[in-house]
Amino acid sequence: MKEQILSKFRSLFGKEGTLYMSSGRINLIGEHTDYNGGYVFPGAINFGIMAAIEPNGTDRVNVYSIDFDEKVSFGLTEEDKPEQHWPRYIFGVCMETLKRGGKVQGFDAVFAGDVPLGAGLSSSAALESVFAYAINEINGNGIDKFELAKIGQSTEHNYCGVKCGIMDQFASLFGKEGSLIRLDCKTGEYKYFPFHPKGYKLVLLDTCVKHQLADSAYNKRRESCERAAAAIRANHPEVDFLSDAKRVWLDEVRDQISQEDFIRAEYVIGEVQRVLDVCDALERDDYETVGEMMYQTHFGLSRLYEVSCEELDFLNKLARKCEVTGSRVMGGGFGGCTINLVKNELYETFINTAVQEFTLKFGHAPKIYNVVISDGARKL
Ligand code: GLA
Repeated sequence: MKEQILSKFRSLFGKEGTLYMSSGRINLIGEHTDYNGGYVFPGAINFGIMAAIEPNGTDRVNVYSIDFDEKVSFGLTEEDKPEQHWPRYIFGVCMETLKRGGKVQGFDAVFAGDVPLGAGLSSSAALESVFAYAINEINGNGIDKFELAKIGQSTEHNYCGVKCGIMDQFASLFGKEGSLIRLDCKTGEYKYFPFHPKGYKLVLLDTCVKHQLADSAYNKRRESCERAAAAIRANHPEVDFLSDAKRVWLDEVRDQISQEDFIRAEYVIGEVQRVLDVCDALERDDYETVGEMMYQTHFGLSRLYEVSCEELDFLNKLARKCEVTGSRVMGGGFGGCTINLVKNELYETFINTAVQEFTLKFGHAPKIYNVVISDGARKL
């Protein structure tokens, strides 16, 4: 990938480019908690996006995507917003940097990646992060990494229509080899947890389906949570986010909110606690508890939060049948991957059974990703 990017950069722009890289992410537990001010527990992975970038002395940005085989140029004012989908992520990062008082001089870039698209591994956060990081360096802006993550998040909000939380961009920027990171999305405090589960593998099974309207369904989930939090806040003013609420406080407003908002909130409050329980369990090397929490999360995401789908539920059930320690839908949902914690000796049988039975039922095989927890954004 590296050589291909550098040589394409040379042939397009007639000079050498400087290489930067950022990563996709997994999340062990803590789903749909980030925009509720709760905990998440992600890590960066060995699938990422690499870009060669160099200032060009103009006020325009010229970017070539190897994967889309497409070159796009845009200026640096709001009126220059590109029509195409992928350049908006880069344009958004430029605009959000400018909004924060950072400098953005025109640049040339070539990029490529191996984060599967639509699999829930945050290819878009990897794209935002690699550009946010590089633009910050090139222009000597000195914006701290947490603010760079917010630049990526605001790009999603303001230029791509997804009201996402901070988890993906945070993981992509703060990722560290061999460690998961517990982030408190309310305070921004985080802690690295070395993650080397002896005798287990972490494997993703990609359903290769991405259901329509996932973005608007995602935004609707967020609205449900905000309505529930507002109702609780009327009784308990200390509740800034839904994650601040106790379960009994939710019960108090049961009659004031819709049944749908109630079950969404019920899931979130349970999930915030599960992240803490998993962190405690990890400190005792108690992978059985970690796994059981993952199954509970899947149940919640499927039945209460309703962001699973037939293909994901099928893989989850199959994991139980194959005695996999933990399994659940990962990321935003509506397709994409399950994340599975599986004992080494059960791995082969699980993968073979999953491929066979899934193919029989859905007519195509799931993809298998053996992820390694890796470093996040950096200059190469
Ligand atoms: C997507 C969003 C994240 C997070 C997850 C669900 O990946 O980008 O902010 O909300 O869904 O946990």
